[in-house]
Amino acid sequence: MTSVNPAQKSFRVCVVGSGYVGLTTGACLAFLGHRITCIDQNTCKIEAMKRGETGIFEPGLDKLLRLAAGNIAFTTSGETDLEQADVVILAVGTPSLPDGRVELSQVREAADKIGKHLTGDRYQVVAVKSTVPAGTGIIVKDLLRKASGRKGSTSFAVASNPEFLREGSAVQDMLYPDRIVIGVEERAAAETLAALYRPVLDQEFVPPPFCPRPGGYGFPALITSDITTAEMIKYAANAFLVTKIGFINEIAGLCDHTGADVTAVARAIGLDHRIGQHFLRAGIGWGGSCFGKDTAALLNMGSEFACDLPVLRGAVEVNRRQRLRAVEKLQHALKGVRGCTIGLLGLAFKPNTDDLRDAPALDIARRLLSMGARVKAYDPVTMNNCRTLYPDLEIEYAEDVISLAEGCDALVLVTEWEEFTHLPLASMAAVMNRRVLVDGRNALDPPEVQKEGFVYLGFGRGTGEKFEGDILVQREHK
Ligand code: UGA
Repeated sequence: MTSVNPAQKSFRVCVVGSGYVGLTTGACLAFLGHRITCIDQNTCKIEAMKRGETGIFEPGLDKLLRLAAGNIAFTTSGETDLEQADVVILAVGTPSLPDGRVELSQVREAADKIGKHLTGDRYQVVAVKSTVPAGTGIIVKDLLRKASGRKGSTSFAVASNPEFLREGSAVQDMLYPDRIVIGVEERAAAETLAALYRPVLDQEFVPPPFCPRPGGYGFPALITSDITTAEMIKYAANAFLVTKIGFINEIAGLCDHTGADVTAVARAIGLDHRIGQHFLRAGIGWGGSCFGKDTAALLNMGSEFACDLPVLRGAVEVNRRQRLRAVEKLQHALKGVRGCTIGLLGLAFKPNTDDLRDAPALDIARRLLSMGARVKAYDPVTMNNCRTLYPDLEIEYAEDVISLAEGCDALVLVTEWEEFTHLPLASMAAVMNRRVLVDGRNALDPPEVQKEGFVYLGFGRGTGEKFEGDILVQREHK
């Protein structure tokens, strides 16, 4: 069976699983001119998507879906579409089991369904985009082969095509990625997927008005490898980001003792190209649905092979401690939190998302409540989610930052939403009981906060002393 015609521009693609990865992938590929069918077994989700509702807070995604409406369909079945697809993208959930192992039942079910509709009369590529442990692609191939009822697998190929989408900027990451990774067993599959991503690889599309091409952006790298290596690349990328954050938080802890300013340390070390500026922001640490799950999976993979991963283990442990550090800072500043009112600025695990999975805010709130504090919170997007998902969490929800501050002894900036970077501090201070501000994201300017009478507590921000001729500010090269 021959591969795709290199001149082919438009592919028939089925995306199985319509979570934020599946839906973003489907919407972007449809926008780029491919004909997409999104398949999901959740009828409510599919009906909502047919009405143009994404069901998730992902900037630009709804607009992209409207632009690409003629190229994308949604269904709970999709048998015929699977039979006619050139490429099937598997993007179902891979949640964690309590011991950190990855739950692959959705992958297995999807592979079974897809396999039954691999007709054998055309070359089809099944690309696994879900994050799966090294070696899963081979299992998927076997499942597809069994379900298709064929002994060989000459008419289809399995590939690993991991995603590197950040919640909150998933559309941007899909259209302007740093790299596209394709793990295959045969060249024809790599050629098919490279042709599918050609518009992104060559940047031959007119950017949507709401997601312009970033200034200075060139072309993404294309990495092809074997399947297991591609699977490992995904885990290693997240593990490295986690390690970077863990490292800078460890240094921030030391800066708290020595009086050095970690934001200047991070800026200065990040100017070394070997280190880089990103993911060096100290604070209460990472949350979200990916880092916790993927690090647990990697540590589990390590223990399966009796291969210790002490660096990663340490980074995860540092992150667990950072959340408690916020509470310790409050205890210290307020001389105990029992009976105090604490206001949380933000609940989401990061800005531009309504996602509360593994959000530091939840741990901080639980800890404070268990210590006898009263907890209030304000988040511009995710308060209703929090009310619905955690009805037992005794948080009092405020309507805005002023009503949040009312009667508070301290505030904790948990999520660096844009609106929190220019807070009406004077008005907030006026309605507070005591004025302590723990900046869990090192997002505020200490002198600005202190000017309004607050005790400012960042993470490793030193004494806050300024000196003239600060080389970091005045002599930065691009
Ligand atoms: C992460 C990766 O960045 C994506 O590349 C990957 O595709 C995705 O996981 C996934 O596996 O699906 P995401 O979880 O959406 O994306 O969020 P990030 O932007 O990476 O942030 C994760 C957490 O790290 C947030 O809580 C953020 O506040 C925290 N963070 C980030 C820091 O504490 N310090 C930093 O310097 C940077």
